[in-house]
Amino acid sequence: MVNKRKIGVLVSGRGSNLQALMDEIAAGTLNVEITVVISDKKDAFALERAEKAGIKAVAVSRKECASKEEFEEKITAALEEAGAELVVLAGFMRILSPAFVGHWHHKIVNIHPALLPSFPGLDGQGQALNYGVKIAGCTVHFVDEGTDSGPIILQKAVPVLDDDTHDTLADRILEQEHKALPEAVRLWSEGRLQIEGRHVKVLPAER
Ligand code: GAR
Repeated sequence: MVNKRKIGVLVSGRGSNLQALMDEIAAGTLNVEITVVISDKKDAFALERAEKAGIKAVAVSRKECASKEEFEEKITAALEEAGAELVVLAGFMRILSPAFVGHWHHKIVNIHPALLPSFPGLDGQGQALNYGVKIAGCTVHFVDEGTDSGPIILQKAVPVLDDDTHDTLADRILEQEHKALPEAVRLWSEGRLQIEGRHVKVLPAER
């Protein structure tokens, strides 16, 4: 078998997007290896999911680092030790510095629970609900120095219903996140993402 490309996943909480990646890998529909999962929260359920799947799980607490720089250096060290070629932010709730983003230039992807450029930052689902939009969704994008502003790989849309609560809308979006993130990582692993400025072209599959 051809060498699988290695990815590192950064998480902060529940880890359902991490689970979606692990499920597709187990099903044979995503041909990458998750070589490390790193959480900034020691008690993140995502770490348990990783351990259960036999994946190296590391907690790097910001509080235990003297500076943001030290915190990010530890993350980079863990990623590099694991040979990660792509960094996947799957519910990682911290803004990364320009230095980190520069180090991993065009090698970080993020899943955001809104149709960017609308509703960046915290609680994209709640922002969409409060604004009154009729279509919401999720975005997978490469990470640049801004907040949720990097080149978009793919987006999936869902309707917003009149009787939606935060939870019903977030669940509907999450279902699409679990498809979008593995799909984007698959396209990357197949070498099919070509970045041209703000645009990400999806190249056709090799036949
Ligand atoms: C997901 O909805 C993800 O899009 C969001 O956090 C949730 C994590 O869920 N990420 C952000 O808001 C990043 N700004 P998960 O831990 O179950 O994957």
